[in-house]
Amino acid sequence: MAPVAALRSGSASGSGTAVANNSDGKALLQTVTVGNSTNICWQETMVSRGDKEVLLGQRGCVLWFTGLSGSGKSTVACTLEHLLHERGHLTSLLDGDNIRHGLNKDLGFSAADRTENIRRIGEVAILFKDTGAVTMTSFISPYRADREMVRQRCQPGEFLEVFMNIPLEVCEARDPKGLYKKARAGLIKNFTGIDDPYEAPLAPELVIDCYDDEGQPRSPLAMAQQILHTLEDQGYLRDPTIPTLAAAKALQRKHSDGVLDFAEL
Ligand SMILES: Nc1ncnc2c1ncn2[C@@H]1O[C@H](COP(=O)(O)OP(=O)(O)OP(=O)(O)O)[C@@H](O)[C@H]1O
Ligand SMILES: [Mg+2]
Repeated sequence: MAPVAALRSGSASGSGTAVANNSDGKALLQTVTVGNSTNICWQETMVSRGDKEVLLGQRGCVLWFTGLSGSGKSTVACTLEHLLHERGHLTSLLDGDNIRHGLNKDLGFSAADRTENIRRIGEVAILFKDTGAVTMTSFISPYRADREMVRQRCQPGEFLEVFMNIPLEVCEARDPKGLYKKARAGLIKNFTGIDDPYEAPLAPELVIDCYDDEGQPRSPLAMAQQILHTLEDQGYLRDPTIPTLAAAKALQRKHSDGVLDFAEL
């Protein structure tokens, strides 16, 4: 398959079908084959992703939480989403069990189904990210190759792997859904960490440790703040003193004479 960049620029070759001109002599758009989809053509849009990011005052990205069941992916992602929302940022949170209620309810937990689960989640996360949202995904996503597949679909700097580095014993002691107990009793097969592997990331952008430097357990808030500070430090979030286009437009509507007073923002 041709790289996405090539497809988007219309320079795909190989399986694509290109006809030079239509009956009016106009050059035809080049169509290509991607997977099982034939005769398709990338549609450029009028409002760019950059335009949306200016509107929102943030850079779209995917924060890919990965870790054992019970490691706190959902808890920390929810806490982080709350912190970001409080600061006026648009977020989206795709959570494992929720997605399996709808989009992925046809999938089970075999290796092939887990891979397809992650592929679909990745594609949905990319759509949100391309709309400028700080997009969080909360899935065990145990296989390195699956996470790498999503990373490869993103541009450098857009995909941040967040490794919940919580020991199995801690996760098993928490066991809020009783799943480890069932897996130990043989009632659930292919359970990650018990009879199915978890492949820890080799070079994650963020490692969330269970304990602090004094050996004390870290709270979900401390973990979420660690991620927030990284986003701030690395320029994903605007300087709060700079108004967003959205805020400026809201104020413009407020003032009938159209004169902006940025001091009010
Ligand atoms: N930092 C923490 N300290 C103590 N308890 C925590 C922490 N983070 C999460 N927990 C608790 O651990 C349990 C599991 O958390 P959570 O459901 O977020 O895990 P998960 O990684 O999303 O698991 P799953 O993959 O099964 O969805 C919850 O009861 C949660 O309250
Ligand atoms: Mg969860």
